[in-house]
Amino acid sequence: MEVVIIRSAAEAGRIAADRVEAAIAGRPRPVLGLATGSSPLPVYRELADRVRCGLDLSHARGFALDEYVGLSYEHAESYHSVVHREVTIPLGLDPDAVEVPPGMAQDLAAAARRYDDAIVGAGGVDIQLLGIGSDGHIGFNEPTSSFTSRTRVKRLAERTRADNARFFGAPEDVPTHCVTQGLGTISEAREVVLLAFGAGKADAVAAAVEGPLASICPASVLQLHERATFILDEEAAQGL
Ligand code: GLP
Repeated sequence: MEVVIIRSAAEAGRIAADRVEAAIAGRPRPVLGLATGSSPLPVYRELADRVRCGLDLSHARGFALDEYVGLSYEHAESYHSVVHREVTIPLGLDPDAVEVPPGMAQDLAAAARRYDDAIVGAGGVDIQLLGIGSDGHIGFNEPTSSFTSRTRVKRLAERTRADNARFFGAPEDVPTHCVTQGLGTISEAREVVLLAFGAGKADAVAAAVEGPLASICPASVLQLHERATFILDEEAAQGL
């Protein structure tokens, strides 16, 4: 695991965008693993700048990590909407080639399995961007998630619902369940870049990087990954 400590969000964006460019170079149909949340935004901003300067991502496929259950895809805070608004459009991706887990499916379990199969069928993720929850979750794999888990329905931890209440009118409006890629699914990406900023992430980052390999900190699974990079500001790195 590589740890890079940066001085600004823009620097984090540049380093991660370089990794994305390198990971997809020469691949006819590269696959990007897309994360929501505020942490990856500097990467999307940097990639959007590069697209304006000629970088072409229109041949890339994208798979998002997670989605709320029961939230209309048209809702502004559904990850279908967020990914379309913050990633697909600014990066010039083909909207038909960007997939988000099926939080509105009738048969969620079957739809989640199909989503997982689609990632494998696309040849797997070339580079996965990640944020980290204050409880150490990646995607929506909450503490005690199995390291071998696949895309499935999960109940959201109360701490995650509280963290994400800022996006909804009232805390009780935050959905209680999600569909998320599993830790086993995420671990199959050929490269992983996790971004974390601010003191609120310091405990989770320390547990992920230097704590025991333990499902109580789901991000610690990345200690097993051959190509995982944590890009941190000094506040997020202060527990290391
Ligand atoms: C949500 C997302 C995660 C994200 C986390 C942290 O729970 N499902 O993928 O990593 O928020 O978000 P932020 O980067 O805004 O702190």
